Amino acid sequence: MENQQMDNQVSRRKFLKNSGLAAGTVAVAGCGNSARTVTMLGGVGAVAAAPTVKVARRQVGPNEKFNIALVGCGGMGRYKLGNFMDTKQCNVVALCDVDEKQLEGATADVEKKGGAKPEWIKDYRKVMDRKDIDLVIVATPDHWHAAPMMLAVASGKDVYCEKPCCHNIHEGRLMLNAAKKYGAVVQVGTHQRQIPHIQEAREFIRAGKLGTISQTFTYTYGNETPNGMGNAPDEPVPAGVDYDMWSGPAPLRPFNKRRFHNTWRWYFDYGCGMVGDWNVHLQDIIMWTMGAVAPLSVSCVGGHWIIEDDRTTPDVMQAVYEFPTPEGAPTGKQGFVQTYTMRKVSGKPWDAGGYGMDFHGTNGMIHLTRTDYITDPDKWDWKRWGPNALIGPNGSEWRLGNMTKEQKNRVDPGADGAAHMKHVENFLACVRDRKEPLASIQSHFYSVTACHLANISLLVGRKIYWDPNKEQCFTDRELRHPDREANKLLAREYRKGYELPQV
Ligand SMILES: NC(=O)c1ccc[n+]([C@@H]2O[C@H](COP(=O)([O-])OP(=O)(O)OC[C@H]3O[C@@H](n4cnc5c(N)ncnc54)[C@H](O)[C@@H]3O)[C@@H](O)[C@H]2O)c1
Repeated sequence: MENQQMDNQVSRRKFLKNSGLAAGTVAVAGCGNSARTVTMLGGVGAVAAAPTVKVARRQVGPNEKFNIALVGCGGMGRYKLGNFMDTKQCNVVALCDVDEKQLEGATADVEKKGGAKPEWIKDYRKVMDRKDIDLVIVATPDHWHAAPMMLAVASGKDVYCEKPCCHNIHEGRLMLNAAKKYGAVVQVGTHQRQIPHIQEAREFIRAGKLGTISQTFTYTYGNETPNGMGNAPDEPVPAGVDYDMWSGPAPLRPFNKRRFHNTWRWYFDYGCGMVGDWNVHLQDIIMWTMGAVAPLSVSCVGGHWIIEDDRTTPDVMQAVYEFPTPEGAPTGKQGFVQTYTMRKVSGKPWDAGGYGMDFHGTNGMIHLTRTDYITDPDKWDWKRWGPNALIGPNGSEWRLGNMTKEQKNRVDPGADGAAHMKHVENFLACVRDRKEPLASIQSHFYSVTACHLANISLLVGRKIYWDPNKEQCFTDRELRHPDREANKLLAREYRKGYELPQV
């Protein structure tokens, strides 16, 4: 037993060391803020009104097109670029990437849709220097969101930033502050908010129709056993790639394609694991529906247990959050419990797919995905199962009344793609009207913070309590004892030369 505990300790330490977040001391070089100063930058309650710094912004007429640049021309960047072009409201004037092949691919996409060849820019800072660029799409890997986003808003551009907006909570706070300081419109890529059946379910739940909610669940399942990404050896850096720049704030490691395009997300050096990659979409809907801005605590277990590759993020994970009762939320006085379950080592529990969200209320449950929802009402009196169960107080069998099949279940296979498009349209409309978009960086900061806290709890190996005003972790519910080890993980170490910009 003791040995087992020792093993757990050792593997936890190894896991922590590999996390890329763990730092002996948190040096947030360049930005001049220690974790302590972050506290003073303002917590959840801080909502900026007008910008505090006026920045020159090109006036775009109502019938005029926006000039846009894409930073990060990989899978998602090119998909979003297609959406922006399809609105017919944008000219793509610049593409930025550190890999020439990616620039070639994105250029071909632009030309195929009738656009002129955009300027190729390898250093994102030069994008920000161009005064004619109105909007920037940031679709780099997670470790490269903060710096381009912050420089973009400081140079008078509005930003569509992919999720998770930040690689750690400290960065997220600085990004949010920068957006407010310069009055930028920032939409984050959590597009699920645009899905009509998700919006309907949200209204249904918020109106109290599902009864008092005690528990919510999010989950992502898959099976990548036995060896996931494989274990190909390190290689020379491919021609046309600026790998030093690609690595950016992360440690410069030997080039390996597992740590490069697309699969970077399974290393804490660059990504946030499944909880930040996928669950942020689901966590966002849970918190948006419940009106929750911050958990009281999170307790997370799991690790890289089974898949035989060298990922540093977990392949098995379970996070349990306690949320207080937000104002107007359909919960009891005790708040609600949110559980995220992730495994990449055992597949789908049912045909419905490998991910989803469930809300459980006293009247029944709602299961939601991007393409469907299933409402499953409870019976009024399960004890009198049998003929009597058909008689409820309202003469109705089910707690949700007599719902039609269409009200109970909905399938909308095209909802996800349509929502991507609507999300971009919503962003452009908000840029024109200087309004807050549906997935603003403020609202995203709430859900992404919850996701990062799950990783922090996993890495320190214990339950952590969260003070959203101080933006600090504590070891006790009364928030008297700061959790120093957890607080070190609120930020990362930045490689020399790649510190966050001071804006
Ligand atoms: N909203 C969604 O549903 C969704 C789906 C997938 C991915 N994403 C997000 O989109 C982002 C990109 O993911 P992806 O799957 O497209 O990754 P990817 O690896 O396919 O693409 C990232 C691109 O960024 C480039 N890049 C890296 N560093 C750069 C730098 N300093 N300057 C310019 N370019 C740089 C890379 O060379 C690569 O071409 C991630 O944050 C991811 O979480 C969102």
